[in-house]
Amino acid sequence: MEKTLIILKPDCMEKRLAGAVLDRFQKAGFDIVAAKLTRLSPALLAEHYAHIADKPFFPALAKFMGSRPVLVAVLQGEGVIAKVRELLGPTDSSKAPKGTIRGDYGTDVSVNICHASDGPESAAAEIARFFKPDEVFA
Ligand code: TYD
Repeated sequence: MEKTLIILKPDCMEKRLAGAVLDRFQKAGFDIVAAKLTRLSPALLAEHYAHIADKPFFPALAKFMGSRPVLVAVLQGEGVIAKVRELLGPTDSSKAPKGTIRGDYGTDVSVNICHASDGPESAAAEIARFFKPDEVFA
């Protein structure tokens, strides 16, 4: 069964929207098979965002992502990787349609409520980055 990693970002936690966002994923038929609250360290953020570490927005993004504890979880279900990204909507919340999670709750291109893995390879790498195998109840 396919799995993906999500991170409920600091804006989601600050707005107390964790339940609302998880509800959308659960109502879409996906199971939570791992979850924890954690504060992302600079080292972990550098690893997680290695593909964009050279972008001008990276320092501000890393500061935002480390600003308060976030909820990291693994979701499982058929087609979960693509479907979760569809439910999130586009990266830029200001351009995301209403009815998508970012369109309804997000602020802009950085402050956008939730991260989700973008493919099978990144999902496997991200799940292994945040969880030990025995912490994933698949
Ligand atoms: P990206 O992988 O392009 O988007 P997504 O989160 O939809 O997979 O970008 C990763 C994160 O980088 C994004 O969620 C927020 C941040 N970001 C910015 O802060 N500014 C930007 O201009 C872009 C493109 C991304």
